[in-house]
Parts: sequence; structure tokens; C-alpha cells
Amino acid sequence: MDISERASKLTPSLTLAVDAKAKAMKAEGVDVIGFGAGEPDFDTPEHIKAAAMGFLEAGFTKYTPSSGIPELRAAIADKLKADNDLDYEPSQIIVNCGAKHSCFNALLAVLNPGDEVLIPAPYWVSYPEMVKLAGGEPVIVPTTADNGYKLTPELFREYTSPLTKLVIINTPGNPTGSVYTENELAALAEVALDDDIYILSDEIYEKLIYDGAKHSSIASFSKEVYEHTLTVNGFSKPYAMTGWRLGYVAAPRNVAKAIDSLQSHSTSNATSFAQKGALAAYKGPQDCVVEMVAEYAKRRLRVIELLDDIGRIKYVKPRGAFYALLDISATGLDSVSFADKLLEQQKVAVVPGIAFGDDRTVRVSYAASLDQIETGLARLKKFVNS
Ligand SMILES: Cc1ncc(COP(=O)(O)O)c(C=O)c1O
Repeated sequence: MDISERASKLTPSLTLAVDAKAKAMKAEGVDVIGFGAGEPDFDTPEHIKAAAMGFLEAGFTKYTPSSGIPELRAAIADKLKADNDLDYEPSQIIVNCGAKHSCFNALLAVLNPGDEVLIPAPYWVSYPEMVKLAGGEPVIVPTTADNGYKLTPELFREYTSPLTKLVIINTPGNPTGSVYTENELAALAEVALDDDIYILSDEIYEKLIYDGAKHSSIASFSKEVYEHTLTVNGFSKPYAMTGWRLGYVAAPRNVAKAIDSLQSHSTSNATSFAQKGALAAYKGPQDCVVEMVAEYAKRRLRVIELLDDIGRIKYVKPRGAFYALLDISATGLDSVSFADKLLEQQKVAVVPGIAFGDDRTVRVSYAASLDQIETGLARLKKFVNS
């Protein structure tokens, strides 16, 4: 059977491949330290699980409206107002099967064939492939460690063409851990408005932020920016709910309607009782998030100390998410060779930066215990010095 042109253009996810290799080694009894995973190592908080289980037992197991249960959309609208100073009606919020799905549906709703989408690199592995699936052309904008791996207005202008339709901004960022300041976002918003470019603002790591950094939602800056922005967020990272598959997009009315239509003919609603769990996540106590963030913050500090001790590896201090992006250029290895050799020789799994559009780097995830961080980074030091 022939594969469609659309499917054959895709590159398989390297992050999942690394994870699979490390897991296979572990299954064979090898003592692998996994820094590859992009997911919290905590369990979902009990009150969230209890809410979903209660509704499951009570038979809340049928179709819901495809864009989500009204009470969850209302809770999301409240959250966006309280945390992000964003005014969305519940009808402008579409609940999807994970923020990945939210980004994909958002792109499907606004891109036409040939539309260019600016993606600052290093980028989250799925953005270029999603853009291609939606018929758009990914335009990769390389950023550097010198500007904290962030898009600048100058770079934004340089890569803009008459075909540019949208720019993706991910803050806090995966794999960089970079957090854009309010001023930096305002400067980017100005360029976007000048050229009538839409913004996909992926804010999934919003809550995982350290060292006094502050998260800003670009759509809150002005009515014009709001009208140009699709805001994506979700439950996977702040509430350790990766397997639940729940995210959402908040958008101008006509776009939300288009996403609702798309969704009603593809996945339909996100899982009924999982949505009740998400409702409990937003309506319930938030100390679970505070506790997890405090734990990530401790790990981050230890990662920074241990990386500084290695010395030969440069990196930009992460301010958000749970990743550190290491510049391995001093080793003379490309990112895949570095990651392969590190796994073979020292049994430490990291993700090669080529997956994120930057072959000079590898990504370390500190969604791992302090013990694993100590052991894994001691092994990394040995590897780098050998
Ligand atoms: C930047 C970014 N956006 C979106 C997602 C998707 O999250 P979800 O599990 O909600 O689909 C991820 C997951 O790794 C991510 O890193």
C-alpha cells in the first residue's frame, strides 16, 4: 500500500525513540539513568484521580459536547482571567486531547497551503511536523545561547516574508527552559501586528517557573494582540496528567468555532471522566502544584551546580519547564553521536538536539529524582572528561 505524501513527509519523533531505547535497556536489567523523558515523574494528585474515579463509577461515560463539558470550559475561562488577565468566554475555549492536539487543531484551523510559520529553534519537536500536516511551511529561525535561545524582534523581521502567516512562541520553553519577559513579548507582538502575523502561544509550562521569573500571556497585551493570538495550555505538566490527554486552546470566536467543527469530525470530545478530573485540578487546592514546583526548583539548582562543576559544558540557566539544554560543541561530537555514546558508555539517556533543530546541543530533563540527577550528572562528567 502506498503512503500518502502527507504522511511520508513526517520525521518520526526522536524523543520517543530515545525513550524507547533507554526503556529497552532498562528492561534488560541495565542500570540506565533516563534524562530523556518530557513528563513529570510525580503521580497525578489524589483529589484529581478521586474526582475522575467518582464520575467513572457514577456512569459519566458517554459522549460530551465535542468542545468539552460546559463546567470545565467555564473553569478554564476563570483560570485564564485570574492567572493570565485574559478575557475569554467559555465558548471561545475548546478542550482537546492534550496540548499537542490543541496546537495541531489550532494550526489546522488557520493555515492554508503554502502559509509560512516561523518556529524559533531550538523548538519543541512536534511543531514543524504539525505545520507540515496542516499544509503549511515551517520556517526555522535559529536562536543562540547569547540571547537565551529566544526569538528577538530583529530575527523575527529577518525571517518574515509575504507568506508568513503565524509565529510560534513557547514560553516557558521546551527544550530551552527559556522564559520570555513581558517586554520581550511586547516587542515580538509589535512585529506580529505590523505584519499581520498570527501568534500561537504555547504556555503549557506556565506554572513551572523559577528564580523569580514571571510568566506573561502575550494575548493579554492589547485587543489587537488578543485578536491575533491562539493561546494553548493544558493539564499534563502542571498536574502530572500526561496520560489523561487534556489540553485546550482559547481563541477568537470564529477560530474557536472552526476548531470545534474540526474536532467534531475527528476526535470528538476528550475523555468524559478525564474532563471531570481536569475540573477538579482547576477548582481544587493548588498546593500540589506548589509542592511539585518546589521539588523541580531544588532539582534545577542541583543540576546547575553539577553542570557548573563539569565546566566544559556550556548552557543557558533554565528559568522554566524542567529541561536544561547543554551546548556540547566543545566535545566535537554531533548531538546524535554524543547521545549514543553517552548511553552506550555511561548508561545515561539524553535527547540529541537535532530533534529540536540544533545539533550543537542535547537536552537533559530533570523530571527525575535528586539521586538520579547526582548519579547521572556524575556519569556525564566522566563521559565529557574521557
Ligand atoms: C512545548 C510543549 N507543548 C505541548 C506539549 C504537549 O503536551 P500534552 O501532553 O498536553 O499534549 C508538550 C509536551 O511535551 C510540550 O513540551
